[in-house]
Amino acid sequence: MSKSVQNNDRRRFFQDSLMAAAGVGFLQSKSASADSFNPKDSVKITNVKAVLTAPEGIRLVVVKVETSEPGLYGWGCATFTQRPKTVVTAVDEYLKPFLVGKNPDNIEDIWQSMFVSSYWRNGPVLNNAMSGVDMALWDIKGKRAGLPVYQLLGGKCRFAADLYAHASGRDFVELEDRVRRWMEKGYRHVRAQVAIEGYSTYGAPGTDRGLGHLPPNTRVYEPAAYVRTIPKMFEHLRDKVGWEIELLHDTHERVSNSQAVNLAKALEEYQLFFLEDPLPPEQVDHFRLIRQQTATPIAMGELFNNPHEWNDLISERLIDYIRVHLSQIGGLTPARKLAAFAETFGVRTAWHGPGDLSPFGRAANVALDLSCYNFGVQEQHIFNDAAHEVFPGILKIENGYEFANEAPGWGIDCDEEKAKKYPIKEDPPFDMFWGNVRRRDGTIVRP
Ligand code: CO
Repeated sequence: MSKSVQNNDRRRFFQDSLMAAAGVGFLQSKSASADSFNPKDSVKITNVKAVLTAPEGIRLVVVKVETSEPGLYGWGCATFTQRPKTVVTAVDEYLKPFLVGKNPDNIEDIWQSMFVSSYWRNGPVLNNAMSGVDMALWDIKGKRAGLPVYQLLGGKCRFAADLYAHASGRDFVELEDRVRRWMEKGYRHVRAQVAIEGYSTYGAPGTDRGLGHLPPNTRVYEPAAYVRTIPKMFEHLRDKVGWEIELLHDTHERVSNSQAVNLAKALEEYQLFFLEDPLPPEQVDHFRLIRQQTATPIAMGELFNNPHEWNDLISERLIDYIRVHLSQIGGLTPARKLAAFAETFGVRTAWHGPGDLSPFGRAANVALDLSCYNFGVQEQHIFNDAAHEVFPGILKIENGYEFANEAPGWGIDCDEEKAKKYPIKEDPPFDMFWGNVRRRDGTIVRP
């Protein structure tokens, strides 16, 4: 090193010390490089990798962020179960080289820089990959602080997350029996779905008569038959199981705009906890018409990718519950902002939580459920024994409540050797269900 460089370094060190002593910002004394954010001995990201595993047959993508501090790493959920390998490419080949060397403490800066790192943004795949990294960074921060993540978000404002369970039946009587079973286990919220005679439907067994003129694997769905059946289903349930239990239902898009309005109106007398996704995301403007005509509570948002898609729905109070898949929108960082935004407008959270969310994603849901005042309800998924083997520390469920793990970070690990015991299945290469639901005449139905 030349003498003048050494002198410059000494002078800068001396100036920094003086300015620090005088309370002058450290940044002002240096050029604004990213490194000037961080103390010299800060922890660095040394590796980022995606791991595929399917202990329940559902293809999960989880992301591990490793650091320069021995034994310090974090895990996050990047699951896009329909296209898992594309997420692996996004993580291993694109985010890893972008992130190695950065300080894992700077979650917000890393999120904002990942967000624009491909220039084109706000899509599935890239947002899934970001979600995995983001949640892993929160896990690391929790471990560094020695605190569970919900503590970093402000601590608990309830002791656990109230869950809703799924019940479905081939007919009203079987459904009633399934609802009762959850009630007997102490659940206060149950989602009810029933088969539609002669057709497939969402969330219940299909009874398609099989129409020979449609392509193989086709599931035949007719919205009118569905819309006629569901009010009768709720009439039956209220008559048999009473009014104490909170009942929910998922339309899963599939119906026309006017059918959605009619359905929401017809269900008003059965006092649902919420009616989910009566419209597809392409028809969000139509929620105004539902709102003008009925007080049936509406939940929406699991298909959103872009953290701005919910702006109008929330600020115009067109929905009651925001349903978002945390490993789809970019992780915990955008979700906690969304929750705060929704609180202002009286919209509550009901984070999407079926089996295509890994235990890390569930833990992120529950961290928000516990720390956000405007929590509404949490969708339940009960992991099987194989998932517990791969992911030690999975959150406990008791009496219809899900509890945070009190260990630092998420309190959950991934045993990479055990994960290999449950490889993802290549055949079929994706869920054949999606893109194969059609009307009787062959028209494709949004799923
Ligand atoms: Co749904």
